[in-house]
Amino acid sequence: MHLTIPILLSVAMALGYAVPASSLQARDILANELSQFKFWAQYAAAAYCEENYIGQTGSKLTCWAENCPLVESADATIVYDFSNITITDTSGFVALDKTTKAVILSFRGSYSVRNWISDVTFPHIALNLCDGCFAELGFWSSWEVVRNPVSAVINETLSMYPDFELVVVGHSLGAAVATLAATDLRSKGHTSAALYAFAAPRVANPALAQHITMQGNNYRFTHTSDPVPKLPLLSMGYVHVSPEYYITSPNNATVSVEDVEVLKGEVNFEGNTGTGLPSLEDVSDHHWYFERTDGCIAPGLPFRA
Ligand SMILES: *[C@@H]1O[C@H](CO)[C@@H](O)[C@H](O)[C@H]1NC(C)=O
Ligand SMILES: *[C@@H]1O[C@H](CO)[C@@H](O)[C@H](O)[C@H]1NC(C)=O
Ligand SMILES: *[C@@H]1O[C@H](CO)[C@@H](O)[C@H](O)[C@H]1NC(C)=O
Repeated sequence: MHLTIPILLSVAMALGYAVPASSLQARDILANELSQFKFWAQYAAAAYCEENYIGQTGSKLTCWAENCPLVESADATIVYDFSNITITDTSGFVALDKTTKAVILSFRGSYSVRNWISDVTFPHIALNLCDGCFAELGFWSSWEVVRNPVSAVINETLSMYPDFELVVVGHSLGAAVATLAATDLRSKGHTSAALYAFAAPRVANPALAQHITMQGNNYRFTHTSDPVPKLPLLSMGYVHVSPEYYITSPNNATVSVEDVEVLKGEVNFEGNTGTGLPSLEDVSDHHWYFERTDGCIAPGLPFRA
């Protein structure tokens, strides 16, 4: 498939999206927001470390790749974890962080980026979360297989710590699953759940994406030309959750406030979407979200580019 940006633009406009004429609506982030983002990115990174998704209830979250020091010093513990769940290989954990006063649901990424870029079919499934809502089938199935036990554990934990916030995080495939988990949990009573989605692919049709956008408390990050958030393509009927926090600094660089732009709209060509078609050459951009997010990835996971 060799779609060009002008074609994608006309697809977006044909579908009725306003394409921003300028970057007037972009804003930079504040210093305290940046430190929040770096903190939650470490929770997404922690889901790649095997000891956290096959750990014992009550054990401390740790990252052998040394990419979650803030989580380690918050003294967060595992409440529940899951891995190798059916063919979707959904893995992750629910953690209790008494320092931050939060219950965290974190999903690991693992899917092969190579396969994604060559995969032309992203089938969808209708959801009853809103009128005309469709989600990508594989991402939804990944949440569905763990939804009951995870929801029960979250309810039980929040009933013991009613003033704690619920935060759902993930990177890559994990961010896709986190996005659908967050919107589902919000619709089941956890209305203020926050979402931190790093390098998420598109998961929703316009109706579902707008529904999630309207729920609020969404922090969706992209980095330069990362190919993964460009998938599935707009022409396949998928769009993003707004806003986009677009990180413009290069790989391996410390991110500062002026390196993150906040862009609105389910389709916005001022950010990652406007940097060209998904290319394997850009895959290194996928690994760096404030830090080497998948630093703990275990050998054998089919992720390596
Ligand atoms: C998950 O499956 C992989 C591949 O089959 C295996 O290497 C790994 O040990 C399994 N992990 C757990 C926690 O069972
Ligand atoms: C969790 O609690 C919500 C209400 O806060 C409820 O709607 C939902 O059914 C509960 N889920 C489970 C699995 O108990
Ligand atoms: C970033 O760091 C990794 C690992 O140290 C290295 O392989 C890669 O070349 C670096 N990339 C850049 C752009 O410096």
